[in-house]
Amino acid sequence: MSREKLKRAAAEAALDQILPCMDSHTVIGVGTGSTANFFIDALARSKNRFDGAVASSEASATRLKASGIQVHDLNAVGSLPFYVDGADESNTRLQLIKGGGAALTREKITAAVAAEFICIADESKMVDVLGQFPLPVEVIPSARSHVARQLVKLGGTPVWRTGVITDNGNIILDVRNLSIIDPPGLERTLNQIVGLVTCGLFAQRPADRLLLARQSGVEQIRV
Ligand code: A5P
Repeated sequence: MSREKLKRAAAEAALDQILPCMDSHTVIGVGTGSTANFFIDALARSKNRFDGAVASSEASATRLKASGIQVHDLNAVGSLPFYVDGADESNTRLQLIKGGGAALTREKITAAVAAEFICIADESKMVDVLGQFPLPVEVIPSARSHVARQLVKLGGTPVWRTGVITDNGNIILDVRNLSIIDPPGLERTLNQIVGLVTCGLFAQRPADRLLLARQSGVEQIRV
């Protein structure tokens, strides 16, 4: 089975799991990326079973609206029972690297609001130690050099993702060579850097459930 088919299988498994918990008042948090797009496509086929969605990016909002799904502002929503999103890497504790699609800040906010964060991924995303995938961080443009120097002091090699401006008007640095043996600790350290808006480590608030699509079927992992 191709990676695309595995992503679709994970997305459809997520919908199968949450559909019985949804009613006409339910608003779902929806992430960003190719796996999340499969989830949006699956959601569209059941759009009469829930109220609408909060999107973690303008791209996902556009796709949701095009699918006939109402998009709510997160500030207008009291609670989100579920946030469903992909990841660039996950370890067995469901600590994640995210932000390959530059949507990490709104993803982290939406995940923070959600009662349950369901991560959907193909098996290539599971790693023993986070960090093969360069860690994205969103940075205020005028702080780029300062933040880069702080990242170098931590042992990282930041690379400016040129041509990319986030939905919040900021830039992305992709950081290689970080030793991520303590993901929550590194997340706390990175959060202290002035001018760094969000780091792509989702470790202090990891996923609650991972639906990992393998060739043998979709495996559910909880911590
Ligand atoms: C978006 O900023 C990311 O966090 C995505 O969730 C992540 O890059 C996974 O993307 P794919 O589902 O396209 O692999």
